[in-house]
Amino acid sequence: MIAIAIDGPAGAGKSTIAKTAARELGYIYVDTGALYRSIGLNAKNVGTNLQNDSQVRMLLNSTKLELRFINNEQRVLLNGNDVSDDIRTPEVSMMASKVSAIPAVRAFLLDLQRNMAVTNNVIMDGRDIGTVVLPKAQIKIFLTASPECRATRRYDELKEKGMDVNYSSILEDIQTRDYNDSHRAIAPLKPAPDSILVDTSDEALETSVGRLISIIKERLV
Ligand code: DC
Repeated sequence: MIAIAIDGPAGAGKSTIAKTAARELGYIYVDTGALYRSIGLNAKNVGTNLQNDSQVRMLLNSTKLELRFINNEQRVLLNGNDVSDDIRTPEVSMMASKVSAIPAVRAFLLDLQRNMAVTNNVIMDGRDIGTVVLPKAQIKIFLTASPECRATRRYDELKEKGMDVNYSSILEDIQTRDYNDSHRAIAPLKPAPDSILVDTSDEALETSVGRLISIIKERLV
């Protein structure tokens, strides 16, 4: 099986690039952020105190996650309900970042992510795919872009979905999440030593997509 890991901070273009490349190569695109988001959503619904270990344990015991692929599109089921759309709000983004710093949450999701790569060729995106989840991935890419550029992209994306959004609060959220994701003790966001570093700030995302797909195809032959 072939695994391609794409890591990087929020809004660097990971999902756009991974989705397009997966379609071209006939691989499954696994968006691991959706799993952390689903746990964040469940914690919000249940009102879990994330500082309390036994409450976190109870939360995880009552969380059943499943990934389904419908027309090549990933859907995530939380306790049997499709929450793929509900997990995209700024509030859930922040909850996801908080739950992702908890070691028990990361351990809970590890096998689910790894299992996807056992029977499928995958392009998996996240924060620790090349470093922890799939350290033997054949290709590892670390995508980045300036916080301002990422905030603009996220703003445009949410606006297009008809959401009522504010640029400064998106930028602030991105900066807070960058800090949390790269300073946590466990599996922090950082490039794997053998990853290809790509900065997408100074070009249109479509240009980065084309450039990365060429890099991937070159390495696969
Ligand atoms: O990629 P995303 O924005 O949907 O991810 C939401 C949060 O989940 C992000 O702030 C950090 C966390 N995450 C993680 O810690 N490890 C991953 N592999 C994917 C996401």
